[in-house]
Amino acid sequence: MEDADSFLFKFKGYHFGREELDIGFIENLDDFVIRESDVFIITYPKSGTSWFQQLLSLIYFEEHRKGIGNLETVDRVPFFEYNFRKMDFVERPSPRLFATHLPYYLVPRGLKNKKAKIIYIYRNPKDVMCSYFHFSKNVTLQVTSSFEEFMEQFLEGKVLGSLWFDHIKGWYEHKSLFNIQFLMYEEMKKDLRGSVLKVCKFLGKELSEEDLDAVVRQATFENMKNDPRANYDDKLKTCFGIQKKGTIGDWKNHMTAEQNEKFDKIFQTEMKDIPLKFIWDMN
Ligand code: A3P
Repeated sequence: MEDADSFLFKFKGYHFGREELDIGFIENLDDFVIRESDVFIITYPKSGTSWFQQLLSLIYFEEHRKGIGNLETVDRVPFFEYNFRKMDFVERPSPRLFATHLPYYLVPRGLKNKKAKIIYIYRNPKDVMCSYFHFSKNVTLQVTSSFEEFMEQFLEGKVLGSLWFDHIKGWYEHKSLFNIQFLMYEEMKKDLRGSVLKVCKFLGKELSEEDLDAVVRQATFENMKNDPRANYDDKLKTCFGIQKKGTIGDWKNHMTAEQNEKFDKIFQTEMKDIPLKFIWDMN
């Protein structure tokens, strides 16, 4: 077991995970040359990153839609700051697709000139926190002996990704600098087809009805769970199906009334100027 401090690496006020992090790369991120055709999925951890990596890969790659070839989703849509495949991003053909948890102020300068496209996926933070709790306990093995303790850690931003509120507020408040589309996890869950259409419109991708069906079918939770190419890590593979549920409102199974009240108070204060829509449960 590692403690949170040895697991995390703080750089310019933001907590990265140490594992797989190329420190030289993040120190020079500003100079990474952005192409007009680049697409970035930006998320706070546990907000549906792998789900959207799968969707983006299915939208862009016919062979993925048709189930040809054995490339894993993470090979088509790699993580930007955790480059575990040690890819040479400069050599990658366009369009380059990336996933990242970076805060708005650390991304390459080119993105801030509305170059390329960003899809920011956000999720009800109570579900994020609960998902993160299971993940930290079972996968990253950060010390989280109780949910209570983890909630403190989460609300202090002492986790990979730092404070959820800072992440989403930073991106929302600076959205005019970027070519960015916000999309809610819960909206995808309730209407995957409609969400894919919305994203395709933003990306300027036109899919036939048949292709659209193929994307939606292969991005459902059940199908992803059974598709080894959609789960990029053995530890995650094990975790998938055991702890992961991919549902809306799991927080109700974890948080006490008191914890919920405390969270709501903080949420109301922090988010009072952010008009993003949220869905807190299935109804
Ligand atoms: P839970 O832990 O609540 O089940 P990330 O990829 O950012 O780490 O997010 C992980 C969360 O996304 C997990 O939530 C996981 O179950 C959920 N997820 C992954 N694929 C999904 C899918 N196809 N549909 C719905 N949720 C999905």
